[in-house]
Amino acid sequence: MSSRVRMRIRRHKVFLLCLLGIFVVSFLHYYKALYNIPLLQEFSSPSNHLKTLKIFSDIFWNIPAADFNSQQDVHKLSRLNVKSKQGSFDSNEILPDGKLHERTFVLQNDPTPFFIHTESGAMCLKEGTDLADFATRHKLLQHHREIDPKDKAINTNEQMVRCPCLQGWHGPHCGIPTIVYHSNLPSKSKVTPRKVPRRVINAINVNHEFDLLHARFHELGDVVDVFLICESNFTAYGDSRPLLFRQMILNGTFDYIKHKILYIFLDHFPDGGRADGWIADDYLRTYLTKNGMSRLKGLKRDDVFIIDDADEIPARDGILFLKLHDGWTEPVGIHMRKSLYGFYWRQFGTLNVLSACTAAMLFKVYKGDGILLRRRSYYSMSGFREYENSTGRILVPWAIGSPVHYAGWHCSWCFKPEGIYYKLISAQNGDFPRWGDYSEKRKISYIEDLIQTGGWFDGSVPEYPPSDPKEHMYAPKYLLDNYKKYHYLLENPYAKEKH
Ligand SMILES: *[C@@H]1O[C@H](CO)[C@@H](O)[C@H](O)[C@H]1NC(C)=O
Ligand SMILES: *[C@@H]1O[C@H](CO)[C@@H](O)[C@H](O)[C@H]1NC(C)=O
Ligand SMILES: *[C@@H]1O[C@H](CO)[C@@H](O)[C@H](O)[C@H]1NC(C)=O
Repeated sequence: MSSRVRMRIRRHKVFLLCLLGIFVVSFLHYYKALYNIPLLQEFSSPSNHLKTLKIFSDIFWNIPAADFNSQQDVHKLSRLNVKSKQGSFDSNEILPDGKLHERTFVLQNDPTPFFIHTESGAMCLKEGTDLADFATRHKLLQHHREIDPKDKAINTNEQMVRCPCLQGWHGPHCGIPTIVYHSNLPSKSKVTPRKVPRRVINAINVNHEFDLLHARFHELGDVVDVFLICESNFTAYGDSRPLLFRQMILNGTFDYIKHKILYIFLDHFPDGGRADGWIADDYLRTYLTKNGMSRLKGLKRDDVFIIDDADEIPARDGILFLKLHDGWTEPVGIHMRKSLYGFYWRQFGTLNVLSACTAAMLFKVYKGDGILLRRRSYYSMSGFREYENSTGRILVPWAIGSPVHYAGWHCSWCFKPEGIYYKLISAQNGDFPRWGDYSEKRKISYIEDLIQTGGWFDGSVPEYPPSDPKEHMYAPKYLLDNYKKYHYLLENPYAKEKH
């Protein structure tokens, strides 16, 4: 062996020894950091977040609901104070219970610290981030800085500041849930976390879907800022009906979420609604949106508006994504798991309903009418091109979820037999044949048979793919957590009689 080769080997040995040394030192730091998790609390201390929120709330626009078209108001600066509560009823006009439907609701910025902020400016979504791993990395980074504060490589090391994501969360901030990650959102790489969350408004008409309403409130209660819930003293058919939801708000049934419910009362039946049920059906959504939105104060153009039927429940993580990010396009659809009578009769495919857009688009394109959002003809609406131009981007619809990733649940006719009976007789006069018009179809025993077999009122018995309560996205979490109470929705109550 020549001396040159020998020297090269020696150099390699020295180099390897150095590497080993660095490795041992790093490992010791890492080990130490494992026992220093309390550091996390420092990152997530609420006082820091309130400071950030205050600064940013000053630079966001505030638009009063009524003057959406006035350009001057668009540029009015908001001076919202961050309060501990996420919006509230207007304290200047505490109205008696009898005027529940006249209250107004003041939207406020949600002060929840959804993100952990690092010193280097990175933001990680708390619930999407492996917090133990996160703490370890940052402790390690700090140690390196103490040892060698001038080392630029350490201070800008991307690996060190990137958020370590938990399973089911993606992106540099761990803020993209799987149902968005696998969606057809064209600008996935361009979404960025917001400093101040959008406010989320969820509008629903309610008839007697009270169990699904509990499921909705528990699923979405922490990400929705206000629920606009409309009830009428007329059925969709035009008959009189008791204001059950109103009674339930007043008797404490919804006390856990009452502070986020804006009650809307439709006290008349639209002209022509009896002859043409579709008029009544549309009018419910129009009234819900117009009345509800006009009673919100402090609405901003980038707030999110979501309109659902009472039997359509979006999954929380998708809505959280809309709330916390910029860069998605609109209108937004939601792929929902479809089932009949309960979650056990799962149907093939998904139901994709256009359900969400920003407040700006709702007013500029859809004329403040939620029913127009649900139709798929936004591009032909007169305000669309102008609105698209104003956003500076091309608006293509996308949908949370995909045909194989459920982002919500559509549970049709999900009642006990008495509830199905009530739905039959109160159904609008359209969507023919109107099964409520046939006495034999209204019999409880007949309805029980349908539930048992998954059959339909026309005598057909569709084919269903297998389903299992243990499968992913089988039903909203609240129902599964209270399995006994909601057993009738989770397992076929008449299955035992099957032979
Ligand atoms: C609904 O309420 C309005 C206002 O209180 C009332 O005028 C109307 O008669 C009621 N309609 C029915 C069917 O109860
Ligand atoms: C509240 O009102 C609803 C509707 O009238 C009724 O079904 C329910 O039993 C009531 N609950 C309580 C606790 O009074
Ligand atoms: C689009 O916006 C630009 C400026 O932002 C404006 O000059 C132009 O007139 C707008 N076009 C339409 C069709 O509104």
